[in-house]
Amino acid sequence: MSLFGDKIFTRRLILRKIQEIDIPIIVAWSQSKIACGEYLNPGKHDMEQMRQQVRSNVFWSDGEKMFLVELREDRRSIGTAHYWYSPGRRNTVSMALKVAIPEERGKGYGTEIQKFLIMYVFDQLPVEAIEMHTDVNNTAQQRCLQKLGFELIESLVYDDQQEKRTGHLFRLTAEQYHSHPIYQFHYE
Ligand SMILES: CC(C)(COP(=O)(O)OP(=O)(O)OC[C@H]1O[C@@H](n2cnc3c(N)ncnc32)[C@H](O)[C@@H]1OP(=O)(O)O)[C@@H](O)C(=O)NCCC(=O)NCCS
Repeated sequence: MSLFGDKIFTRRLILRKIQEIDIPIIVAWSQSKIACGEYLNPGKHDMEQMRQQVRSNVFWSDGEKMFLVELREDRRSIGTAHYWYSPGRRNTVSMALKVAIPEERGKGYGTEIQKFLIMYVFDQLPVEAIEMHTDVNNTAQQRCLQKLGFELIESLVYDDQQEKRTGHLFRLTAEQYHSHPIYQFHYE
């Protein structure tokens, strides 16, 4: 992983800070059933609200960051990745992501995004665990989490854009992170 200012470089991707010019695509993706896929509910972001949030660095603070994901090859935007401190729990971070272009799914980008965001979080922040919720039927995401060393903690009903979803809570502790081979080798 290479860090340059507000960018994370992986083998095939760049994760970078959101700028005002990116707002239309992020809002469009957040409202699109195609971009969100079957297991994420479209959100209710609106352009003006997001402009205020980007201007006031809501998505780029010590406790929360949202990245636009681009292909290094041609700088096309393919999705977003986001982490934030879990409310009321100082040492735990939650994460979410979407590969918003359906044709770009299943190419390993979801695994690559999460791997490098996890390394960024554990290397930069005093965090004891990263947690992710996933729909019970989201096989692709569960495969990613399994490869990345997450442990299934419980099956539960969780909120997704004010709607209930049945799913699983997965957790990766700092100890598991430090001992898992996927984070020791950077050939991918
Ligand atoms: C879930 C998501 C992030 C996975 O990213 P991706 O780039 O498609 O996944 P990868 O290519 O890294 O594949 C991960 C694993 O899932 C498997 N997989 C991919 N698509 C699959 C599918 N449709 N069904 C079953 N398994 C699938 C892959 O084979 C791979 O497993 P393997 O290494 O054992 O072969 C992506 O599909 C996505 O953004 N979906 C819409 C939004 C979403 O659901 N976000 C997750 C909620 S936080």
